[in-house]
Amino acid sequence: MITSGRILERLKHDTAAHHAAAEQQLDLDNRLRNSAAYAALLGRLYGFYQPLETALGRVDGYEELGIHFEERSKALNLAKDLAALGQAIGSFPLCPAPRVPSLGDALGRMYVLEGATLGGRIVSRMVEARLGYTAERGGAFFTNYGDRVGAMWTAFRSALVQFATTPETEQQLVAAATDTFERFNSWLASTREVL
Ligand code: HEM
Repeated sequence: MITSGRILERLKHDTAAHHAAAEQQLDLDNRLRNSAAYAALLGRLYGFYQPLETALGRVDGYEELGIHFEERSKALNLAKDLAALGQAIGSFPLCPAPRVPSLGDALGRMYVLEGATLGGRIVSRMVEARLGYTAERGGAFFTNYGDRVGAMWTAFRSALVQFATTPETEQQLVAAATDTFERFNSWLASTREVL
């Protein structure tokens, strides 16, 4: 498994400012202040993940890179958490999905969703300490992959390195990752005042 490469450095470097903005948009002190605010956050995240994962699921070519797309779904965990909190998923607005015209575009978008599971390790501890939700009940999204987080990330990074063999494919990944961070940040920003 190849776990280092220029594309990995580049993705991290070129999206660092977007990552900082995403942490700000999550605004955890505010959104974990009580169960209602947490449920609203999960609903907003569901609205982002569900249409995007559906669009990503229509793309071919993951298996050749060793990625089993279905096992990486996070919308399922969001739906599970929302059910545990007594929320109907149908009550949350869905964010229009981008066009995903190629495997490169899909992988760049997945980079953002997969990377977010790393921060999830920190967030899940806060969720449990402040609100008492656990992987089994209400906290499945942020505990995504459980103790396999590291292994899932390493496998995904390896797929990125295998894929990014030309300047064009590198550029596809970076452009899609940047666009996804921007969409995520503006989707969360538009609820900041009301949640
Ligand atoms: C308060 C919230 C967050 C915290 C505390 C956090 C924390 C972290 C940490 C500690 C890492 C590095 C892990 C490692 O290298 O082992 C990381 C990586 C990453 N996070 Fe976050 N994160 C947060 C939110 C997010 C969000 C909302 C997104 C995307 C929507 C995101 C996307 C990423 C990505 C793509 C990486 C991989 C960077 C790389 O290429 O190495 N994070 N995060």
